[in-house]
Amino acid sequence: MSMPIAFYICLTLFLSIFSGTDGYFEQRVTQCRYSSKDLHGIEFIDSYVFNKVEDIRFNSTVGRFVGYTEHGVKNAEAWNSDAGFLGQEQVQLESYCKHNADIYYSAIRDKTVEPHVRLSSVTPPSGRHPAMLMCSAYDFYPKQIRVTWLRDGREVKSDVTSTEELANGDWYYQIHSHLEYTPKSGEKISCMVEHISLTEPMMYHWDPSLPEAERNKIAIGASGLVLGTILALAGLIYYKKKSSGVL
Ligand SMILES: *[C@@H]1O[C@H](CO)[C@@H](O)[C@H](O)[C@H]1NC(C)=O
Repeated sequence: MSMPIAFYICLTLFLSIFSGTDGYFEQRVTQCRYSSKDLHGIEFIDSYVFNKVEDIRFNSTVGRFVGYTEHGVKNAEAWNSDAGFLGQEQVQLESYCKHNADIYYSAIRDKTVEPHVRLSSVTPPSGRHPAMLMCSAYDFYPKQIRVTWLRDGREVKSDVTSTEELANGDWYYQIHSHLEYTPKSGEKISCMVEHISLTEPMMYHWDPSLPEAERNKIAIGASGLVLGTILALAGLIYYKKKSSGVL
């Protein structure tokens, strides 16, 4: 359906020059992108960004520079014709990304923790739709996560809002996504959660009958009633027998 959720290590170098009211900001961002345990699909990415616009990028899977602006295209052409320079970039995949993979994996990949997900009905803010659902994912690591809504199996994009990934302050994160909607009978609404700790996307289906907490209260109440009745009956039988002299 979508790109696998992976993690990446990012190193940024900045150079900024200001003259009067004009500012120039050059940024170089190098990334090691890891998407599986066995280093399969590993990538080294080296981006050059000028005033927030990426103009040229080296991608180790492609093995050369690609330009995205006029200036970038020109530089890509020049840099790609320099075999020495290309070689220096390509070797980073081994000497930087693969070389440090154990450290990054033990710091991040091996410490992944699955989110706990809760789907609940909440009061809509006002206006457009009478109902709102909240899909909350708690205590996951690392931060990268994707929470989406499905209505009868198809992704819903409108009337969806989400918080950022919020840091708990204990290395774990939480996120809350909201869907405002007008209920239709017979439809199926689900929240889908994708995270590197999960081997496949997790689906949570909304059961419009009664929220779980309410069902639990009813179950506890009913058990109490049954237990109370049994005890009362036992007491009554005991009392009757005793008073009629059987005991
Ligand atoms: C690098 O190139 C490969 C092959 O074209 C592509 O699948 C991948 O998305 C690119 N990675 C980035 C971060 O641009």
